Amino acid sequence: MDRYLMPGKLTGMSTVSLEVRIGDLFLKNPLIAASGTYGPDSFELIPPSLFGAVCTKAVTLNPVEGNKPPRLFEVKGGLINRIGLQNPGVNQFIGDIYPRYCQYDTPVIINVAGFAVNEYLKVLKILEENIKDSVIYELNISCPNVEKGGMAIAQHLPSLKRLLTKAREITNKPLWVKLPPQGDLNKLLKVSEETLVEAVVIANTYRALVIDKETGEIYIGGLSGPAIKHLTLNLVNQARQLTPLPIIGCGGVGDLESLMQYLKLGARAVQLGTSLFSNPDTPSTIISELTNFLNTKNLNSLHDYLHPPGSFKVIDKREKGVGNLQLGSQKSIKGRVFNARNIIRVKEIKSDEDS
Ligand SMILES: Cc1cc2nc3c(=O)[nH]c(=O)nc-3n(C[C@H](O)[C@H](O)[C@H](O)COP(=O)(O)O)c2cc1C
Repeated sequence: MDRYLMPGKLTGMSTVSLEVRIGDLFLKNPLIAASGTYGPDSFELIPPSLFGAVCTKAVTLNPVEGNKPPRLFEVKGGLINRIGLQNPGVNQFIGDIYPRYCQYDTPVIINVAGFAVNEYLKVLKILEENIKDSVIYELNISCPNVEKGGMAIAQHLPSLKRLLTKAREITNKPLWVKLPPQGDLNKLLKVSEETLVEAVVIANTYRALVIDKETGEIYIGGLSGPAIKHLTLNLVNQARQLTPLPIIGCGGVGDLESLMQYLKLGARAVQLGTSLFSNPDTPSTIISELTNFLNTKNLNSLHDYLHPPGSFKVIDKREKGVGNLQLGSQKSIKGRVFNARNIIRVKEIKSDEDS
């Protein structure tokens, strides 16, 4: 098993450890390259080793051409994209694209998408049969610029529940769900909890409208970048109070301040997308500024900054038996510290005994 999937002690590359924990997974730092904004063509400019993990572009069952141009609009404070899940399909992903990620040690997150529940499941099965490495799956149920699938699944909770339940049956590897910014956050989180996903990514882009300056044509796409940061911070804050699941913040991260804002609100890590386009130095700058910041505080690790000794509190169980956790998604029960998944398991065992 790869080192990064093994529970273990904090190990940083530099003298200051930036390691973060997401469920049973340890990443060497809290920066993750967001889906669709980073891939093998960027590896030379922005090496994968800078990140705690890198996420692939969406992978679907069959090749998808995506929308016709124009597909990318620069707007004040960010980008509106209407790429439309363009990708060469799962088989070409396995044959041509994934091997390029394997040349690096950085953990790979495969963003899985589809136009119906069964398509997601077929993609997962094919990936499971062909990729034996310890990858992470991120189920993209939140693409705002395709008509079927994606966001439509997030809007139909029984379909989402079926998708997540079946996905859990197909793989033991970590399953993350990338949520849309719109929709009933509480219900989306509850379905995610019930189906034992390891983490939720909050959130995808925001459905937005742009008028082409040249043609006057109206286009709908997904808004990303600094313009959405405060909206997504608000969602992360709400989610933190609704679920013990580990949260990965995603929206407008482009500097140390934005990373720290997400971490302060309880996110375990962040994904960054648009900032990789606007400034390829963003991840290296954040990492060196974070290291300097911890050095000036005489701290050995990011963990010590986020969780100073003695900071874990026992928080009462909520009515459904899952803790409402402020300090990351850990909970102490009778002196033992559990992460979100353990807590759900504890709850399950308890209800079995009760019946
Ligand atoms: C050009 C572009 C392509 C994207 N493609 C995907 C995708 O394939 N799958 C996905 O889940 N998110 C996709 N996203 C959304 C990003 O992963 C991320 O959720 C979003 O951009 C918000 O983060 P940011 O503000 O840091 O860019 C894409 C975003 C952009 C700008």
